[in-house]
Amino acid sequence: MPPGPWKSCFWVGGLLLWLSVGSSGDAPPTPQPNCADFQSANLFEGTDLKVQFLLFVPSNPSCGQLVEGSSDLQNSGFNATLGTKLIIHGFRVLGTKPSWIDKFIRTLLLATNANVIAVDWIYGSTGVYFSAVKNVIKLSLEISLFLNKLLVLGVSESSIHIIGVSLGAHVGGMVGQLFGGQLGQITGLDPAGPEYTRASVEERLDAGDALFVEAIHTDTDSYSYLICDHMRAVHLYISALENSCPLMAFPCASYKAFLAGRCLDCFNPFLLSCPRIGLVEQGGVKIEPLPKEVKVYLLTTSSAPYCMHHSLVEFHLKELRNKDTNIEVTFLSSNVTSSSKITIPKQQRYGKGIIAHATPQCQINQVKFKFQSSNRVWKKDRTTIIGKFCTALLPVNDREKMVCLPEPVNLQASVTVSRDLNLACV
Ligand SMILES: *[C@@H]1O[C@H](CO)[C@@H](O)[C@H](O)[C@H]1NC(C)=O
Ligand SMILES: *[C@@H]1O[C@H](CO)[C@@H](O)[C@H](O)[C@H]1NC(C)=O
Repeated sequence: MPPGPWKSCFWVGGLLLWLSVGSSGDAPPTPQPNCADFQSANLFEGTDLKVQFLLFVPSNPSCGQLVEGSSDLQNSGFNATLGTKLIIHGFRVLGTKPSWIDKFIRTLLLATNANVIAVDWIYGSTGVYFSAVKNVIKLSLEISLFLNKLLVLGVSESSIHIIGVSLGAHVGGMVGQLFGGQLGQITGLDPAGPEYTRASVEERLDAGDALFVEAIHTDTDSYSYLICDHMRAVHLYISALENSCPLMAFPCASYKAFLAGRCLDCFNPFLLSCPRIGLVEQGGVKIEPLPKEVKVYLLTTSSAPYCMHHSLVEFHLKELRNKDTNIEVTFLSSNVTSSSKITIPKQQRYGKGIIAHATPQCQINQVKFKFQSSNRVWKKDRTTIIGKFCTALLPVNDREKMVCLPEPVNLQASVTVSRDLNLACV
C-alpha cells in the first residue's frame, strides 16, 4: 500500500453530543414519488439565493420532506425531543446536488436517532465562487429564522448540531454567531479557504460559534505539498459515523512536530482523552472546562475506512557520532508496509519518529532498518552503527508500554537489515 496522504485536524473547545453505533447498508434507496429532493440550478440562473429545508427522519431516512413553516414541521415526524442535525453544503460549481449527501444523511440517521435537515441552497451556491460567498450572510439569516421556528416547537439550542461542508462550514459559523454561540455543536468539514483565510471571526467559523466547535481539515491552502482531496473530510466523517475504526488525533503544535514524534500522548491538555472524529460527545474529550482551542493531528490511509495505527519508533545509538544519523525504519505485516525516517542529531544518543500502519501493531511481524549513507554514492561507505530499537503504540501515556528488540541492531551503511517483531495485541 502506498503511504497514505495525511490529514490534519483543528479542533476547538466548547461542549456537546452523543454517539451510537451504525453500519451503513449500501443499498441505494429507491426514489419515492412524494419525497422532496435538492434543486438543480445552472450556471446562469443559479446565482440568486433560493433556500429549501429538507427534513429526514429515522423512520423514513431516504425520503426528504420540504419543511418551511411550523405547520410543515408539526406534520412531518419532526421530533422536538430528539437532537437536530443540520447539513449545509458549500459552493456547487455546476449547480448540482452534492454527490455525497444522500449517503451522508443515511449514515447519520443510522448512527443516531435525530432529526436531520439538509439545507439546499443550490440556487445561490453556484456561478462563480464569489457570488456564492456574497450569499453567505443572507443564507445565514434564513437558516437562523428557520432554527427559531424549531426553538418555538420546544427544541433546545444545545441539541442543535450544524455540520457544514467547505463554504457551508462558515455559514454554520455565522448562524452559530447569530445564536450567541449557544448552539450545541458545529462541525466544519474542510472549511473553505478562499476568501476566508484572512477573514475576521465574525465572518468565519471560530471557536466561539457554538458550545463545541470542531473543524476537520484535509486540504491546505499552501500547496507546498499535495495533500488529500478537499472532499476527503466528508468521506472521513462518513467513515467515522459508520464507526468502523477509531480516528483518534493527537495534540501537537505542527504537523512536522507530530511526524517527528514530538507529540506522543494525550496528557496535555486532554488529560488522557484525545479527541476522535465522529459523534462522540465532545469528540470523546472528557474534561471540563474544555481547552479553548487545540490543534490535533492524525495520519490516514488513502481509502476508507482511513484509520491508521500510529507507532513511536526510537533508535538509541551505542556510541555518539559526529554527524547526523539517518535510519529508515519499515514495518511489515502480511500485506502492508510502512516506513519512517529517524534522524539522530550529531552528538546525541537517540532519535525518533512516527510510523502509521494500516493494520494493528500486533499484526506487524517484521521490522527493517536501513542506515542511510551520507557518503558519495561511488565510494562504498563501510561505516557501521550499533543501537537499540524500541517502539510503542500511540498514545504513549506510559513509557512502560515501550517494547524493545532484545538484541542490539548492527547496521552497515546502505544495507537493509530485518528483524522479527512480536508485539502483543492490545
Ligand atoms: C420522540 O422521541 C422520543 C425519544 O426517542 C420518543 O420517546 C417519543 O415517542 C418520540 N415522539 C414522537 C411523537 O414520535
Ligand atoms: C490485509 O490483510 C488483511 C487480512 O488478510 C485484510 O483484512 C486487510 O484488508 C488487508 N489490508 C490491505 C490494506 O490490503
